[in-house]
Amino acid sequence: MDDGAMLGACHSRTERQAMADRQAADRSWSTLNALEHPRLSDLFAADPERLAKLSTRLELGEGGVLFDWSKTHLDDPHLDEFEALAEAMDFAGARAALLGGGVVNVSEGRAAEHTAQRGTGSEEAVALAQVLHARMAGLVDAIHKGVFGEIRHLIHIGIGGSALGPALAVGALARPNGSLGGAMVDVHVVSNIDGCALEAAFAGCDPQATMLAVASKTFTTIETMTNAASALAWLESAGVADPFGRVVALTASPEKAVEWGVDETRVLPFPESVGGRYSLWSSIGFPVALALGWPDFAEMLGGAATMDRHFATAEGRDNLPLRAAFADLLYSRLRHCQTRAVFAYDERLTLLPSYLQQLEMESNGKSATLSGNPVDGPTAPVTWGGVGTDAQHAVFQLLHQGTSLVPVEFVAAVVPGDDLDEAHHRILLANCFAQGAALMQGRCSDDAARTYPGDRPSETVLIDELSPASFGALIAFYEHRTFANAVLMGINPFDQFGVELGKQIAGQMEQGGAIFDPSTQALLLAAGIGS
Ligand code: F6P
Repeated sequence: MDDGAMLGACHSRTERQAMADRQAADRSWSTLNALEHPRLSDLFAADPERLAKLSTRLELGEGGVLFDWSKTHLDDPHLDEFEALAEAMDFAGARAALLGGGVVNVSEGRAAEHTAQRGTGSEEAVALAQVLHARMAGLVDAIHKGVFGEIRHLIHIGIGGSALGPALAVGALARPNGSLGGAMVDVHVVSNIDGCALEAAFAGCDPQATMLAVASKTFTTIETMTNAASALAWLESAGVADPFGRVVALTASPEKAVEWGVDETRVLPFPESVGGRYSLWSSIGFPVALALGWPDFAEMLGGAATMDRHFATAEGRDNLPLRAAFADLLYSRLRHCQTRAVFAYDERLTLLPSYLQQLEMESNGKSATLSGNPVDGPTAPVTWGGVGTDAQHAVFQLLHQGTSLVPVEFVAAVVPGDDLDEAHHRILLANCFAQGAALMQGRCSDDAARTYPGDRPSETVLIDELSPASFGALIAFYEHRTFANAVLMGINPFDQFGVELGKQIAGQMEQGGAIFDPSTQALLLAAGIGS
């Protein structure tokens, strides 16, 4: 089966239609490759409507989010042809399949039902999510009410998608002294198998007032299970009478959690069809609900649901995640950019680049199409970034004057998260906007060392106020953008077989006896690992 036919099988198209669409997609790529790339300043000069066309607010009830893609090289010819590509790749069919619980993860033969957690999906998936959320809300409420004694700390143990989402959300929304008020429970997220990570969490927690969340979709991940065992031992050695009585399991393998020793009443399951890096909305979000309270967690789901509705109904360039994917592909496939950078001009979103690294690189870092053929162009660029203004004093030199073209994304909020003099936030935002302007405008000089080429693209996401709802909408935007990119490239964003080989080899090393290449053998010998 070719790629078009494979998409057709997923989205009920005929093989012939799929073939015709594949040819149409090839034609679109040829057209796109032949288009000119006017300078950004010329694009603004040529089209007085440019800002209005490419800068769009998503309203969220209270406040909203502005998505400004006008400082990218998207222009009408590119947008027209990317829309033709979306049509040829049956974007509408793929989107309907995703949001309707169709089998979009073809290599693993299952749906990707994260949106059902926020109310969009098959009837059964949405109903199940509601039941599981009710169970989770009940446990959160019981902990807040003191059923487990006075709980002031939660050590959340997980890795990858089972840690990054909760860590990002708690960091963004539960600031100790922020304007949103303090967290109800102090959350420590531990992912690394390096014992230093767990020891740092222990140092910040009173064992008598600590619960453990063990978060693992599979409940087999070596880092998580090793850390969980050590955390139990820590509770025990501190005199906690029933350490297992302090454990909550967040997993799609509830039977494994029970087998490991967690009481069934404290196992919060989520469906197999929710992927790890898309799982914040499921029971993996337990620490967020515990820290903020259930109403805020529900608001986060509500914000994501608003983005889901927009994604489901807006067409072509008016669809914000799809428009963002058009720009992503313009830079990765037409301008050969190998990286994209995200800078959060907001200390609360420090972990956003790390979160997006997993979301984008684990989803779309692929070399095979849906049907198993080699891809016909680059897939996900390397996502990297940092926090503004720190990054300005470290990496922006290369962005302004280096030889690599890097599309940059800025994320900021209008309302400050701090209570200090408003000068802090004013200077922060001025710096954010100044970087985008400087990247685009550049500066001529007789001195080559002082010349800025300009015409460097940036995208800006400006949130009115970082709240659970706007945060939910932001993360759902990135999820859908990642999916839209995958559809346009004809790849499956929902598997991650590339992480398996390294895990298997690490297991062989642990067991000892296997022979590796000379360099690896020497390293094992030097570290005294294996036989
Ligand atoms: O190693 C990759 C991965 O499978 C991620 O996709 C996942 O988020 C992470 O490991 C953790 O897996 P689990 O939740 O099963 O412990």
